Order: sequence, then C-alpha cells, then structure tokens
Amino acid sequence: MIPPKKISKAGRIEQYAMNNSRAVLLLLLVSGKALIDATVINVTEPTEWWQTATLYQIWPSSFKDSDGDGIGDLNGITSKLNHLVDMGVEVLWLSPIYPSPMVDSGYDISNFVDIYPTFGTLQDFDYLLATAKKLGLKVILDYVPNHTSDEHEWFIKSKAGIEPYTDYFVWNKGIVVNGTRKPPNNWLCAFNSGSAWEWVEEREAYYLHQFSVHQVDLNFLNPRVIQETKDIMTFWFDRGVDGFRIDSMPYPVEDPSLPDEPLSGLPGYSETDYYYLDHIYTKDRIENYHILQTWREHVDNYTATVNDGAIRIIFTEAYANISSVMKYYNFGSNVPFNFFFIKDKNGIESATVNTAIDVVNIINTWMENMPDGATANWVFGNHDNSRVATKYGSDRIDGINFLLYLLPGVAVTYNGDEIGMTDTYLTWEETQDPQACSTDETRYQPYSRDPERTPYQWDNTTSAGFSTNSITKLPVNQNYLTLNLATEKEVDVSHYKNVQAAIKLRSNEVIRHGTLDAQVIGESVVAFARELDGHEPVVVLINWDNITSTCSLEVFENIPDNMKVLISDINSGITVGDRYTKTRIELPAYAAVVLQGITDE
Ligand code: NOJ
Ligand code: MG
Repeated sequence: MIPPKKISKAGRIEQYAMNNSRAVLLLLLVSGKALIDATVINVTEPTEWWQTATLYQIWPSSFKDSDGDGIGDLNGITSKLNHLVDMGVEVLWLSPIYPSPMVDSGYDISNFVDIYPTFGTLQDFDYLLATAKKLGLKVILDYVPNHTSDEHEWFIKSKAGIEPYTDYFVWNKGIVVNGTRKPPNNWLCAFNSGSAWEWVEEREAYYLHQFSVHQVDLNFLNPRVIQETKDIMTFWFDRGVDGFRIDSMPYPVEDPSLPDEPLSGLPGYSETDYYYLDHIYTKDRIENYHILQTWREHVDNYTATVNDGAIRIIFTEAYANISSVMKYYNFGSNVPFNFFFIKDKNGIESATVNTAIDVVNIINTWMENMPDGATANWVFGNHDNSRVATKYGSDRIDGINFLLYLLPGVAVTYNGDEIGMTDTYLTWEETQDPQACSTDETRYQPYSRDPERTPYQWDNTTSAGFSTNSITKLPVNQNYLTLNLATEKEVDVSHYKNVQAAIKLRSNEVIRHGTLDAQVIGESVVAFARELDGHEPVVVLINWDNITSTCSLEVFENIPDNMKVLISDINSGITVGDRYTKTRIELPAYAAVVLQGITDE
C-alpha cells in the first residue's frame, strides 16, 4: 500500500519527511492548552471492503428476543437484520454467543465451538449467517482467546491432571510464608477483587485469572493452546464468518518468572483495585504481538487454501497507551480499536473531552501516530463503556455521529447509539456485572457495565418491542416510550435519520479518501474538512460548547465561498439546504452541521 503523505500548511513538510512516518507532533499553545498543529493529512485510497466499513456491535442478550423468555437470541437478531441494512451498516459484530455460565455476559466461554442454548443452535447461527449474506452483510465474531470459563472441559481436565490439558492453564504452587501458603506474587485481577490467583485443592496449585475468578487464563507458552486457538478460528471460518474481534489482546502472555508488579502510584485506587499496580509483567507484552502475528498468518493461510477471493479481517481490543495500540497494526490487526475518545492516553481513566481542543487533539493524535498505509477507525461507545448520549450529553449525539461516520476509515458503533439510547440506572440488587458486583453498594455504579447493556428500544410496546415478556434479563430503560427506533423513523428529524444520512455520505469519494484537516475554529468549534480534487469538499462543524460561536472556514484551503447544509443536528434549528458564506458562520450552542461546497451554480 502507498504510505499516506502528510503535508502541512505552514510549510513543515520537510520536518515530516525528515521523521518519516514517526511524525514529530508540532505543538502550538492555544488558550494555554497544547494543540497538535493542524495539518492536511492524506488518506490512502481504500482497496478492500473493510477499510470504509461501518461495524455494528450487537449485544446478543439485549438485541431481540424471539421466544419470549426475556433474553435476546440468534433468531431475534436474524429477524432484525433488516434494521442494519436500513441504517446502512455493512458489518455486524456479535458479542459472544458461545456456551457459557454467563458470569461475565458470555466472555466466560465453556465451549468455543457451539452456541449458548438460550441464544439458539448452530443451525440458528447458520441461518443468521445465510440471511446476513443475502442482505449483503458481513459477520464478525467475538473471539476470547485469553481465558476460558472455569466450566470449560479443558479446565476440568486440567484440574484433574488429565493430559494433554495439565499445562493448558497457568498453574503455580505459590509460596509458603510462616507456614501459610500464599500466591506466588502480588498480581491483581482486572475486576478489582484482589489477587489474580485462586487456589484449587484438587490440583494443589493456584491458577491465574486476569479477569474474574471464573475466567481462567490459558497458558500461551504451550504450543497446544496456540493450536487450539487456530482450530477454533478455522471452525468458524468454515461456517462462513468474515473475521474476528479479538478480545483482551494485551493479556495472553505474562512474564513466566512471575515477578511482583510495582505500585502504580495512581491516586484513588485501593489495594484490591486493578490499577493499584502498574502491569508491566502481565499486560502489553511483546509476546502478545507475536501471537497476533501467528493468528494473522493462520487467517491468511486459510484464505489462501480455500482460495475464494474473500478478505478475512481481524479487529483487536486493547485499552493501552497509543504506541502499544498502534503496534497491533504492525503485527496483523486490520483495525486496532481506537479507544481514545473513551479512555485517556494510558487507556486507564476516562478520556478528557471537555473542549473542542481536546476533540481535535484526539483526532490528530490518532492520525499522526498510525503507521504508514494503516486504516483509521473511530469508537465512541461499546458494551464496556457508558453510552454516547450519557457520556457526551444528549446535545452532542448528532455531532458525535458526524465525527464517527465522516472521519476517514472504519466507523465502529454499538447497538442503540444510532437512536441515542442512554445509560439505564440499576439498583445494587439489580446489578449483574461481575466488575461491579465485586465492589459494594456504595461504589458499584462507576464499575457497572449493565447500564449500557439494557434491551434495544425498538418501539413503545411491551418491553420496548424487545420481548413479548414484560420481565427481561436486564430492565428496559423507562424512556423507551418516547426514545425508540419506530418513533425516530416516523418523525421528520431524528438522530436515526441523521445517522442514515451520514452513513449514506460515506459512499461519496470525498469521505472515502479525501484529505483530512481537523482544527478548532471560532470560540469552540470542532471543524474538519474533507477534500478531494474534482469533488465538492465536505466540512463538518460541531460547536462543542454551550455558547454561540461564530467562525470562518478560511483556515481551510480550497473551500468555495458558498456552502450548503447537507445534515444538521436535530436541535440546531438549522435546516438541510440552508446556505452559508464561508467567511461567517454562526453556530448556536452545541449545533452540529455537515456542509458541502457549492461552486457550479
Ligand atoms: C473485554 C470485554 O470487552 C469485556 O466485556 C470482558 O469483561 C473482558 N474483555 C474479559 O473478557
Ligand atoms: Mg429469547
């Protein structure tokens, strides 16, 4: 692939050339805060389907219940695939659908090559896949290689010392201090419940669990385990899936000498909280990248063997610092999720997105750090984080969607965000997420992921049209009577209709591979221009603050004098077709618009 060139208005091309792809970020001080220098960034012309795809994440237990048990299922999903087509999505990603005791919503898998009976059967899955293919949709599965459920047959046999499973997991006898047996080191599990080691009497050893005690870490130093992971991928490729979202990519390999991890020194974490320690021996290890590389080779070998001309892809999940995330591109991930609109630069605390400068910095930091020829991607929400409407505020829903769909590359969205669903409040008694249940009634809320996992709001009937049952696994948000897809399809202007319009625009060559120039203009406006020779430019403006802001588009090159509104946010009072001269555009508080140049009238 041709590496994207980076050119800059301020004649700084030599500096980028000097530093090649590892572009030095030029810092300007604006309002006392660092702003990455605005540059026009070239975007490589996409040659493969996934490079401009919209990926739609489905949370199976809350999408659509077909049999009235109050829990979503595969036939329910199949019955609603038309919604994805209506929205304009090309790829769906199913969060785990495998047999599981459901301690961690299916991320605790007891059989990697079957279906959770409450969700259906392998035949139901084949039907889902066949229906998706007919509708032109690709299907990606969530693959969770780091751990199995403690009910997986491999673990049961490993505990009992049955070969070849004895070394499938990370076992250790621990240490004896003053006559008392203790875990071998201070490692903590990510679910904030203390030690990552659990004693098993039957085996007379501790096993490692980086997540809940019911999610047992596989031993990736065992070649048999690596072979199993490849066989699992082959099983699903044979059934026809188009790729995988690989879960917990920073975790498979730990330092085998098991050293204690140093204290993080981060404020606010107690001794049992994961971030009390700095995870230098258990996370982001280089060996994980090598494992990813073997999966990449396996996927490509599969494609070469079946020789069907299909392109099979790997998305990777890693909350980490930017260099650790970017490295996944180099080792075979097509799309390492860009979580920097969700988490801070270390992938730990919530991202700071208080100002327009923050937003533009996040965009430019990602673009500038990507390796040559890589495809960008944008993520604002998922099943592990607050809903977009709650995190960013309901006034910013459309603006966020314009960022998501009109920045270059892959757009990743979570079911329900297209209609602006909000987090649902759950009481301590109602809470199911292990990450919250391991805390206590006084502090569970920030840890709980249940609020973003409640049923999809289809319409204003029983259980929001999700189920005929009025009792559902997680409660339906009471705002469903007014906030639902059916209503948003009926009214003239809605978040959903704006999403449809933005996705439609993604087929425009300017959005597919036009240059990107993101800047802060006016008092508080996030602005980005997409330009391509021979095409009308598209400019997106999002007033990030609760003040009117007046701006000019003269900062962008080659923008014609007159612009028309293609899409406008539902509260702005700005109408599609309205016209502006580029030198003076007044945007009401939080208004967001998509403009297109007019030169030939
Ligand atoms: C990441 C998943 O997104 C999350 O939901 C899960 O709890 C952990 N991995 C453990 O599998
Ligand atoms: Mg059901």
